[in-house]
Amino acid sequence: MSGFTEIKGVLNADNVPLTEIAAAYGTPTYVYSAHVMKTQYEALAGAMKCALPADKQPILCYACKANSNVAVLSYLRSLGASLEIVSEGELHRGLAAGFKASQIVSTGVGKQRREIIACLKAGIHQFNVESLPELEHINNVAGDIGIKATVVFRLNPNVAGGGNTKISTGRKRDKFGINEQTVYKAFDRAAQMDNLDAVGLSVHIGSQVSTVESFKTAFEKMPSIVHNLRDQGHTVSRLDIGGGFPIIYKDEKLLDLDHYAQWVRDIILPLDTQIIMEPGRYLVGNAGVLLTEVLHVKETEETDFLIIDSAMNDLIRPTLYDAYHGIEAVQNRDAAEHSYDVVGPICESGDTFTKGRILTQMKEGDLAVIKSAGAYGFCMASNYNTRPLPAEILVHEGKAHLICPRQDVHEIIARDIIPDLG
Ligand code: LLP
Repeated sequence: MSGFTEIKGVLNADNVPLTEIAAAYGTPTYVYSAHVMKTQYEALAGAMKCALPADKQPILCYACKANSNVAVLSYLRSLGASLEIVSEGELHRGLAAGFKASQIVSTGVGKQRREIIACLKAGIHQFNVESLPELEHINNVAGDIGIKATVVFRLNPNVAGGGNTKISTGRKRDKFGINEQTVYKAFDRAAQMDNLDAVGLSVHIGSQVSTVESFKTAFEKMPSIVHNLRDQGHTVSRLDIGGGFPIIYKDEKLLDLDHYAQWVRDIILPLDTQIIMEPGRYLVGNAGVLLTEVLHVKETEETDFLIIDSAMNDLIRPTLYDAYHGIEAVQNRDAAEHSYDVVGPICESGDTFTKGRILTQMKEGDLAVIKSAGAYGFCMASNYNTRPLPAEILVHEGKAHLICPRQDVHEIIARDIIPDLG
């Protein structure tokens, strides 16, 4: 049995007891299951394989903002993934993980000159461009270094979709993409530019998309725009249809991948372009837990607090988005149930993972996991309260591999410089 399963009363990750991982590496620690990543990758790739002909398979560009550990990138690459990046840092992570630059797509509303130069010199597949000023900027930078850029334009389809307002990106008031009229202007402008080729469109309506029909609504905006562009003499040879596939945190309605693949087949495939996708959370979200230890049980008149050694700096999603994450004990999993507020040690009340959650009873020194933490977990962690970043472990075929050691507090402090103020 692989994934996060109970074996002999103890929660395991791909057949390694989490008690052993905690003993060897301490807590808080992110633990990832390679098996779950593979299952997710194969489910998505498999649905597309069934729906689309062999020569029109999408390029699955893993959106590495979800989890950018180089070992995770390298593993997903070995399964067949390409890469979507949003920064120079992610470019270098991708290259370090063995991706060819030609497998990499660069997105984001604001790309710095040095990032564009690094991407151009490496030879990435394309830039997804989100405004006319950005188009001018890329053209100028490309001209300065004499390397032509390949770009697609991100359409803002004016479709709501993300799991919460902070991660919805496809509404016209959002900062992302350009509207249909601006797409035409952008292609016309690009045609006059010497240092870039405009070859297509992209669309990404948000993350943890809960109204799955929104994908279809966004796709349906593409064909008429593509036909109009072609009628105007422009080339449209690539369509990047984004990411946003939801995972299970609690009781979400999941996207039926076969339905999604049929929408791609019925709406996108007839446009006869290269198809690119940008899945992030779907590939890694359910593949990770944050392993933590109970520091204290603090009983008050109002509630019982389970004070754990993980905090909002380690996993910000509950604090930032009021996001729900399942929490489970690692041992004594058949103990009586009890209601807890689960909180971290940071000095603000927002450092709360959940309130009034019924869990099995736990005591000081017990281990617990915060589930579905493989995406937007470690990569959003910070040093708030000068807490070191957690360790990361990748479990593969029954063996735990340390893929990032716990940060040393002295590394954090060593960055600060006391100036000579006379
Ligand atoms: N492509 C683009 C252009 C994106 O902006 C994103 C996510 C993705 C792909 C991948 O989306 P996914 O498949 O992972 O849903 N920190 C938030 C999520 C922010 C998502 C940002 N963009 C959270 O913890 O929920």
